[in-house]
Amino acid sequence: MSEQRIGIIMNGVTGRMGTNQHLVRSILAIREQGGVKCGEVTIMPDPILTGRNEDKLRALAKQYGIEKFSTDLDAVLAGDSYSIFFDASGTPYRVPFLERAIAAGKDIYCEKPTASSYEVALGIAEKAEAAGVKNGTVQDKLWLPGIQKFVELRDQEFFGEILSVRGEFGYWVYPGHDPEHPAQRPSWNYRKEDGGGIIIDMHCHWRYVIDNLFGRITKVFSHAVTHLPERIDEQGTPYACTADDAAYAMFQTESGVICQFNSSWCVRVRRDELFTMQVDGTEGSATVGLRKCVVQSRGDTPTPVWNPDIDSPIDFFDGWSEARPGEEFENAFKTQWELYLKHVVAEEPFPWTLREGAKGVQLAELSWQSIADGAWVDVPM
Ligand SMILES: NC(=O)c1ccc[n+]([C@@H]2O[C@H](COP(=O)([O-])OP(=O)(O)OC[C@H]3O[C@@H](n4cnc5c(N)ncnc54)[C@H](O)[C@@H]3O)[C@@H](O)[C@H]2O)c1
Repeated sequence: MSEQRIGIIMNGVTGRMGTNQHLVRSILAIREQGGVKCGEVTIMPDPILTGRNEDKLRALAKQYGIEKFSTDLDAVLAGDSYSIFFDASGTPYRVPFLERAIAAGKDIYCEKPTASSYEVALGIAEKAEAAGVKNGTVQDKLWLPGIQKFVELRDQEFFGEILSVRGEFGYWVYPGHDPEHPAQRPSWNYRKEDGGGIIIDMHCHWRYVIDNLFGRITKVFSHAVTHLPERIDEQGTPYACTADDAAYAMFQTESGVICQFNSSWCVRVRRDELFTMQVDGTEGSATVGLRKCVVQSRGDTPTPVWNPDIDSPIDFFDGWSEARPGEEFENAFKTQWELYLKHVVAEEPFPWTLREGAKGVQLAELSWQSIADGAWVDVPM
């Protein structure tokens, strides 16, 4: 086994996702495990942190024992030491960063949404393709344990014909007026002008989740609301919420599966996980969460009879069993990073490209069109 170092510029990773999921849980975890085995070589990622704030970069680098950081992105891009450019900065800044990195001949990997409009998202995908650089978009939910367990059962035809899906995503994000409960998400999430809003955030995910699990989305019908008009920002200052904080949507796939997804930062949780998805098929059903997948077969399905005058004689939580209980899975972001690194080094397939990422932005845009029209909107191929 020979070791192959690969330099990665990690841009905008002092934020939530960049630090926790991409730097610590993915790149540093891969380094700690001794790299990624790929044929005869072991790929060893070597990160340099880039961003605007030198103090924050220095503190992050020191905390995790990373040697290199810089606020001079142009100088880092001009060198040959780092061949991959990764971006987890805010959505409005993404495309200008990617353009600079593509111009410098770097391979590209980045967070979703890849841009704020479909036209721009498609444009950056085309630029990367024309430049011949490898490219990818984070589509982490595909490697969640709950979803991997579901896909295995789907492929074994446990569910028969899948009829409908009901996804419930969300939790209560404190608006921050009560000092004992500061907001637990960044304030830009609630300002449209800064790239915020739950549709652009979550419908990007629902696009690849539904396309991959239930078939290509062909239609969308959506509604969005800003339930809470005012929140408190990181400086303790009230601000007007200009972005949607809840979305209620239906998607139909090419095989006719009806998928209803509620996404909200204004709901309290009384379900197993922050995201759950009930899938009903002719032969069986599942409740798919981030980590668990609980199933009921046709044979275990009870026969309820409507009678609100008595307590239910059936405990509806009986007759369900957990698929692959207790099994350990890798972090979803890390799994996708490993696939991306193998793609860059050894040409292994990586279908989760910028072009695929653009489809998520497309679905968000068509959801807004549906809201404006008050009608179902076709999602073109
Ligand atoms: N895959 C997922 O599940 C998932 C979840 C949450 C967020 N995200 C995406 O990740 C991105 C970051 O979100 P977050 O929640 O970590 O936000 P955040 O506000 O915590 O972090 C954003 C980071 O970008 C940096 N930044 C902002 N402007 C910059 C600029 N001009 N130059 C360099 N750096 C800049 C900030 O300093 C910060 O480090 C967003 O695009 C978001 O949509 C993805």
